[in-house]
Amino acid sequence: MKTLVEFVWEQQENLNYATGEFSRLLNDIGIAAKIVNRDINRAGLSSVLGFEGSVNVQGESQKKLDVIANNEFIKALRSGKQCAAIISEENEDVVLFDDETTRNAKYIVAIDPLDGSSNIEVNVPIGTIFAIYKRKSVGTTITREDILQAGDDLVCGGYVIYGSSTMLVYTTGNGVNGFTYDPTCGLFILSHENMKFAEDGGIYSINEANYIYFPAGVKKYIKFCQEDDPATNRPYTTRYIGSLVADFHRNLIRGGIYIYPGTLKNPLGKLRLMYECVPMAFIAEQAGGMASDGFQRILDMHPKDIHQRCPLFIGSKNMVEKAEKMMHEHSHDYVKIYAAEKN
Ligand code: AHG
Ligand code: MN
Ligand code: MN
Repeated sequence: MKTLVEFVWEQQENLNYATGEFSRLLNDIGIAAKIVNRDINRAGLSSVLGFEGSVNVQGESQKKLDVIANNEFIKALRSGKQCAAIISEENEDVVLFDDETTRNAKYIVAIDPLDGSSNIEVNVPIGTIFAIYKRKSVGTTITREDILQAGDDLVCGGYVIYGSSTMLVYTTGNGVNGFTYDPTCGLFILSHENMKFAEDGGIYSINEANYIYFPAGVKKYIKFCQEDDPATNRPYTTRYIGSLVADFHRNLIRGGIYIYPGTLKNPLGKLRLMYECVPMAFIAEQAGGMASDGFQRILDMHPKDIHQRCPLFIGSKNMVEKAEKMMHEHSHDYVKIYAAEKN
């Protein structure tokens, strides 16, 4: 039996430059995840359901649990002193700390504290997504280059799924490992070693109600998924929970693709590049899958803004490749819907 804490330390000991700071940081995220897990489990009993009454920078109403989860992660990262700045879905500006030790720290964290928060009341899986970057500068002054790093500079991508069981899944670029939370002893325990996407999956996950607004490439891909072709196991099956973490996690285990495309209404889609798409893309690639905005690799993108949105095609390699191919074949729609926004 191996716990998350033991696993993280072991992995880091194999790196000769390791100082233990990263291990402490990841363990702080694990501690906050346990607290958030407790809050979510008891949500119906502790009057934390419903709206906070505030709106975040994306114009979305904040749920009470969005705010609680955000505070718990910030608190854990502040007291751990390994993270110099936090980019959060729930904070318009980068969160910086007052004390000098923390402002000198090596790491920057981008986080979606509660993903799928529209699902909180209905008892289906929700999650937390996090990305860890090593800062480029040293000292107490955080620079723009520290914050707006390319996906390829990521040192760790991970998520927590608060589902029928709670799991923490992460990668540091050396495969993907999953840890199941055992509430009887309060530990995350290694349960899913070296997780891999099937090359050809059989599930497609997309909010099809927006079909009319989708670019032609996505419409064609959906029709492809629905064709009768026993040799390739089509028609595939549709599964869509509406929590990226939950949809991604199921597809990682069963094989599948998740798509949140740019649409006529929202040319850059809905998901945020830095704390949703990039960490999930890193996990997908490390699990042998693929992550694209429909035309280019997510991890090649350079963010211009901390809350920037980005279309996402992610999951089993052959499925994402096929969807990308269809986006290329119908790129006139890409020009119409997406390119103008992108530049
Ligand atoms: P968040 O709760 O962090 O704002 O994210 C919700 C996201 C994502 O988790 C999910 O896949 C997607 O929104 C669902 O959007 P639709 O309701 O438009 O399908
Ligand atoms: Mn989210
Ligand atoms: Mn969220």
